[in-house]
Parts: sequence; C-alpha cells; structure tokens
Amino acid sequence: SAEDLLRIADLIRPVPDHPEPGVLFRDITPVLADGGAFATVATELAAHTGEAELVVGVEARGFLLGAAVALVAGLGTVPVRKAGKLPVVAASRSYDLEYGSATLELPAGVVEPGTRIYVVDDVLATGGTAAAACALLTDVGAEIVGFGTLLELTALQGRAKLGDLRVDALLSA
Ligand code: PRP
Ligand code: HPA
Repeated sequence: SAEDLLRIADLIRPVPDHPEPGVLFRDITPVLADGGAFATVATELAAHTGEAELVVGVEARGFLLGAAVALVAGLGTVPVRKAGKLPVVAASRSYDLEYGSATLELPAGVVEPGTRIYVVDDVLATGGTAAAACALLTDVGAEIVGFGTLLELTALQGRAKLGDLRVDALLSA
C-alpha cells in the first residue's frame, strides 16, 4: 500500500559523499534488514513479473532483491555478475555507472534464447548497470519483459538508457 511504501522510503538512509564526493548515496540496507519491508518490496515487485519465466538479479544488491522476487513469483533466478567471478561466461559488457565503471557477465548455459526475463536491481541511477545487464540478455537472445527496482533516482534519467523497456520503480527520489 501507499502507506507501506512511505514507511519503506523512510528506512532508506541518505549518505552524502559516498563512495565519492558529490554523490548522495541512498543506502537501502535498513529496508532489507526489516522483515516486513523486505517482504513488501519483494511482493510488490513480484506482482510486476507478468509473463516472465526467469528473474535476473544484478550484483550485488540486486541479488538480494532479485532472489526474493523470484521466490515470491515462483520463478528461478540467475545472477549477472561483476567480471571475473563466473567460471563459464555467455556474454560480457563494460559500462559506466553513477560513480565509476565496471564489467558485467552472464553465466553460460542457464538462459535459453527466447526466455522471457524480468531484471531486478535495488537502485536505478544513471541506468548504465541496468542497460548493460539487458544488453547481455539480448546478446543471448532472451526477451526482457521489464525492469524492477526499489528506488529510481529520477534526476539521473536512467530510464532514457532503457529505451521503451517497462520500468517498475516502487519509490523515486
Ligand atoms: C549500484 C546499484 C546498481 C547501480 C546503479 O551498484 O546497486 O546496480 O549501482 O547505478 P547506475 O544506474 O548508475 O548504473 P554498484 O555497482 O555500486 O554495486 P554493488 O551492488 O555490488 O554494491
Ligand atoms: N544508492 C545505491 N546505489 C546506487 C546509488 C545510490 O545512491 N547510485 C548508484 N547506485
């Protein structure tokens, strides 16, 4: 409910100048640490998975949320990981994010071409991370049906990097 979401918004902790000067970092740790808030967030995002057959979560905080969403929705989950962690890689993409750059990788052998995917991450900022995760999935022929997130930082215009993909953001700041 709107009331639950207001309470969840209050749990997000703004931290100035993390991880670098000028970034107002929204720390969602207290949301995940609150059983009721965690369940609400997972249930609300699971309600948006629609025709998805699989949930992809993006390292690292996207794993926590993505796995919970998948479990509530009755789906499996696949991690998109930072470079060098996966033993067998299907696709790899470098990208820029709000505070730096990185490379993401998709594990081999778990996403069949044509699979309908719901992508989950905790925060949508510049959209660099989400766009890279989606690019990996389209590289292997998957069909992305939506992107779900707890918090969208609207001033950073991350949606613009996602084209006409449906974005479900429970909160915005
Ligand atoms: C954060 C966040 C998103 C991304 C959003 O992850 O969890 O994945 O940045 O930023 P963007 O929209 O500008 O790309 P981070 O790379 O800090 O990694 P972590 O989850 O491993 O801490
Ligand atoms: N909080 C959490 N993750 C993020 C942020 C933020 O403010 N910006 C980019 N990724």
